[in-house]
Amino acid sequence: MIEIKENFSLKKYNTFSFDVKCSYFSTFSKVDELKELIIIHINNKYPLMVLGGGSNILFTTDFEGLIIQSIIKGVEIISETNEYVDVRVGSGENWDEFVGYCVQHDWSGIENLSLIPGFVGTCPIQNIGAYGVEVKDTITKVETIEIDSLNDFVFSNAECNFGYRDSIFKKELKGKHVITYVYFRLKKKSEFVLNYGNLNEELQKYNLINLKNIRQAVIDIRNSKLPKPEDFGNAGSFFKNPEVKAVKFDELKRNYPTIPSYPQGNSRVKVPAGWLIEQAGWKGKNIGNAGVHSKQALVLINLGNATGNEVLNLAKEIQNSVNQKFGIQLEMEVNVV
Ligand code: EPU
Repeated sequence: MIEIKENFSLKKYNTFSFDVKCSYFSTFSKVDELKELIIIHINNKYPLMVLGGGSNILFTTDFEGLIIQSIIKGVEIISETNEYVDVRVGSGENWDEFVGYCVQHDWSGIENLSLIPGFVGTCPIQNIGAYGVEVKDTITKVETIEIDSLNDFVFSNAECNFGYRDSIFKKELKGKHVITYVYFRLKKKSEFVLNYGNLNEELQKYNLINLKNIRQAVIDIRNSKLPKPEDFGNAGSFFKNPEVKAVKFDELKRNYPTIPSYPQGNSRVKVPAGWLIEQAGWKGKNIGNAGVHSKQALVLINLGNATGNEVLNLAKEIQNSVNQKFGIQLEMEVNVV
């Protein structure tokens, strides 16, 4: 049964810990409850927002409307062969608990995505990625409800239009569908992806390379670089890593020979935003209560009682100085409300 709470504090519902409120808030544990909430939104003309784990959102103000959050649970095996298993997972499952569950069952594919905050239902929206793996490579289908029509939809992997931290749910269909279930195909024969950054190095500590140890290594690397939201509110990477044309990159390389890069093919090169921000002098700096994490400059943090606007202001200052120094416009990864 749904329960709508009024004048609801979102402080515990966004990992920046901004002290904002919404007029109405409700969770839904099944598709029928979601439909009931959508009808309430339509009948009362309340603006509607779907919140996941609140780990990729920056609230600058209270939300005058209805916020809904999936608590649809369950990991159901749909089919299984000797090679793989297909599972259908409720959008309200905690992402990292699902990763842990797969590792426990010896299903591979998402172990490099350990400890990413958020829900299963939001992982396709921005195609979460880390340590050389993107979730798009394991997602087979996404089930949704279209808000305007209340119709059920199933998007194939191709129809999701996945890109780097991107999908159709962030673009053309932004705010139009609510994700209810995500389908994954996980491999029974482990194929490890270990070529990213210091993952391999971290694994030297173990005498065996298996899913459990990879998960632990990823957790240890993340814990050493990324702040825990309990210590400092944050939303992971604040900006995307920008892609520049090869000619532009060659020019940068002449001026900054140590610049790291990831060639993307089609004469484009991705450059780590964290490096650009550090070079622009921002690492460990703050403006008021909004700061740049001292161990990973791509992460902006709430040092205490920061407001969303303070963090947004810091983000804009960083964008300006990176643009001035390198001629590159950083694009925000978090959703600003
Ligand atoms: N770097 C710096 N200074 C910094 C941070 C990074 O010089 O302050 C340099 C590093 O030395 C390295 C390069 O930048 O050469 C890349 O750094 P890192 O491996 O930490 O990864 P990233 O590109 O900064 C991306 C993702 C992270 C993900 C890591 C690991 C984006 C926007 N971010 O960060 O994702 O965990 O790779 O795969 O693509 C997230 O999206 O919230 C997130 C944390």
